[in-house]
Amino acid sequence: MTTSPKDLRADGEWWRSAVIYQVYIRSFADGDGDGLGDIEGIRSRLPYLQDLGVDAIWINPWYPSPMADAGYDVSDYRGVEPRFGTLADAAALIAEAHEHGIRVLLDIVPNHTSDQHPWFQAAIAAGPGSPERERYIFRPGRGDDGAQPPNDWRSMFGGSAWSRVGAAGEWYLHLFAPGQPDVDWEHPEVRAEFTETLRFWFDRGVDGFRIDVANSLIKAPGLPDAGDLPLSFGPDRGEYAQHPHWDRDEVHEVYRSWRAVADSYAAPRVFVAEAWVTHPYRLALYVRRDELHTAFNFEYLMSPWTAGALRSTITETLAEHAVVGAPPTWVLSNHDVARHVSRYAREQTGQLTHTLDELVGKPADLQLGLRRARAAALLTLALPGGAYVYQGEELGLSEVEDLPEDTLQDPTWERSDHTQRGRDGCRVPIPWSGDEPPFGFSPDGAAGPPWLPQPADWKALTVEAQSDDPDSMLSLYRRALEIRREHPALGDGTMTWLDLPDGALGFAREPGFACVVNLSASDAVRVPAEADVLLASAPLTAGGDIPVDTAVWLRT
Ligand code: NOJ
Repeated sequence: MTTSPKDLRADGEWWRSAVIYQVYIRSFADGDGDGLGDIEGIRSRLPYLQDLGVDAIWINPWYPSPMADAGYDVSDYRGVEPRFGTLADAAALIAEAHEHGIRVLLDIVPNHTSDQHPWFQAAIAAGPGSPERERYIFRPGRGDDGAQPPNDWRSMFGGSAWSRVGAAGEWYLHLFAPGQPDVDWEHPEVRAEFTETLRFWFDRGVDGFRIDVANSLIKAPGLPDAGDLPLSFGPDRGEYAQHPHWDRDEVHEVYRSWRAVADSYAAPRVFVAEAWVTHPYRLALYVRRDELHTAFNFEYLMSPWTAGALRSTITETLAEHAVVGAPPTWVLSNHDVARHVSRYAREQTGQLTHTLDELVGKPADLQLGLRRARAAALLTLALPGGAYVYQGEELGLSEVEDLPEDTLQDPTWERSDHTQRGRDGCRVPIPWSGDEPPFGFSPDGAAGPPWLPQPADWKALTVEAQSDDPDSMLSLYRRALEIRREHPALGDGTMTWLDLPDGALGFAREPGFACVVNLSASDAVRVPAEADVLLASAPLTAGGDIPVDTAVWLRT
C-alpha cells in the first residue's frame, strides 16, 4: 500500500526548506472523547494545518505502549496504540495529509524498547546467558552479592541507569525509565529489525522519521564508568570528549545504512536527528551527505534572547552545516523543553536554558516573553534551511508552570523524588475553541477531561479566538508562512549579516530580502534605507524605527 503526495512540490529536496509542524499526538486533538489526542483528531485538523501553511507534520510515537514515558516506550513498532487508533486510521491519515499537501514524519525510537516488548519479555523469561538477553544490555552487578549496579551511569530521569531483575538477578541498562530497556546495537538482529520497521512505514507512504536520541545508540566496549563526564550531553560550548554512551563516533555507521534505505525509495524518505551534542561541529557529523538529512539545532533553542548569543550560534551553525552541504534545522520549542514564551519571559542572563526546572522561582513577564516569541518566530523563519513549529507555539502558548502535582505524569517527577516537575507543562492539550476547558480539544459530551488540565485563561488563546484577529500570534505565523512559501529568498540558501548597531541583528538574503531584529534596550534601530516592511512582529515606532524585541521582514 503506497500513497504518494499529490499536490506536493515535485522537488525531491523539499526538506531543505520545509516548515514542519510537530504534532504531539496526546495533546493535539481528541477525536473519540477519552481526553487523549488521537489519529482521528489529527485527521479532523488537517484543514487547519493546511491553512497554517506547513509543509509536513512530525507525529510523536503512536505505537502500542504502556506509556511509561508518554509513548517513547514502544511495545510494537509496527502497530498503533489502540487509544490513538488503528493501522487503518494511520493509513487514512497519511493519505489525507498528502491530499492536503502535507507530508508525514513519524518518530522512531531505536535506543530502547518498552519492557513490555516481546523481545524484553523473552529476555526476562529466558534468563542469564541466553541469546534472548543479548539483544539488550544485561550485566551482573558489582560487589560480592552483585547488589551494586554494573557501572555509574545515571538515568536521564533520575537515579541509576540500571535496574535489577528480581532481588538477585542480573541488571539491565535503561538510560531513561526502567520501562525503557536499552537495546544492544552491536546485535545484528537489532539492526535488521529497525531497518524492517523503517521499510514497514515507508511502504505505507510515510515520508520520513524523527530519530529519538539518535546520539545514544552505541555504548563504549566494556561499559566503563562515566565518572565526571556530564549526565546530559547538551550544547555547552565545551570540548568534545568521548563519552561512554553519548554521541559516539560508531553511531554514524547506523545512519549510513538507514540513509541507503531511505534513498531506495523513488521519492526519497527523510530523517531528522534528535541529537543533543556539545558543539555544532558534532551535530554536522550527523548530516553528512551519506547520513541523515537534517538534525535539530538545540543550541539555537537553548540560546538566551541576546544578539550576541544568537548571532554566534547562527554563524557557527551555518558554517558547520555548509562544510557538509546540509541545511540547518531551526527549532524554538518541543515536547521536552519549557515553552519559549516562558523562557524569554525571564531575565536573559546569558545561560543556555531549556527546562522548566531551570526557570522555577525566576520572575516572569509573560507579555515580554510573548513579544520576544513573536520576534523569534520571524527570525527563525527567515534563517536559511528548514524549521520546526511545536504545536501551540503558533498560538503563543506559554508553559503551564502550576499544574497540580497530582496531575504530573512525566517520569522525571517520580524519579526525582518530586523535586523536578519535568516536561508536562509544555504538553497541555491545545485550546481550539470555546470559553472553557476542554476548549474544543475533546468533542462535546467527552467521557473525561483532557489528560492534563488546561488553564482557564487559555480561552483568549484558542484557534477560534485568534483566527480573525489580524494582530494575533496565529495570524503572524500564517502570514509569515505564506510569505515564506512565495518568497524566492526564503528557505534553503545563504545569508549575509548586515552591519548594524550593537544589540541589533540583521541579515540579507537574495533576492531582495532582509530580516532585522532589535534585541537592544533602545527603540532606535532604523529600518535600512530603501527597504519596505513586509511583515513586523510589532508596530514600528511613530518615527518608523524598529522597537525593542521586534523583528521585521523587509523587501530590499
Ligand atoms: C527524547 C524524547 O523526545 C523524550 O520525550 C523521551 O523521553 C526520550 N527521548 C526517551 O525516549
